[in-house]
Amino acid sequence: MINIEVNINGEDYRLEVEDDLRLIDLLRDKLHLTGTKEGCGEGECGACTVILDGKSVNSCLLLVAQVHGKRITTIEGLGDENNLHPIQRAFLEQGAVQCGYCIPGMVLSAKAFLDTNSTPKREEIREAISGNLCRCTGYEKIIDSIERASEFMQEEGSEARE
Ligand code: FES
Ligand code: FES
Repeated sequence: MINIEVNINGEDYRLEVEDDLRLIDLLRDKLHLTGTKEGCGEGECGACTVILDGKSVNSCLLLVAQVHGKRITTIEGLGDENNLHPIQRAFLEQGAVQCGYCIPGMVLSAKAFLDTNSTPKREEIREAISGNLCRCTGYEKIIDSIERASEFMQEEGSEARE
């Protein structure tokens, strides 16, 4: 067993966990943050994406031991039904969600990307979500949503500055 400290969605945790516990299993099984999904378990699908110190990562490939002292955001930390994040609003507005399994990971990849590029080109968006597979949508509405989200975020940023 190991002891770790980690901040998840703004909350500090001190945990004693098995040495070989994966981050996705901590999130889903121990903390019941089940918005993070497991698809392949091998780093291929992006369904398990979370944000680790500002970067999108696959939580199925990380051990909890590797996140000691770090900050993690899961989909539960982004917004909720009463206070959606602009990216979540854009996905709803554009009708980009079908089965929904890939969407938490898509939204978090989009968040990490838009935080570094607030006015992205379509090709850049496509590249940014290239590690996130979707079996349902054909990606176009997802890309539309991320474009729209960048507009929302710029509008809200300029309103906040006024
Ligand atoms: S479940 Fe982690 S990349 Fe597929
Ligand atoms: S909406 Fe079904 S996998 Fe993307």
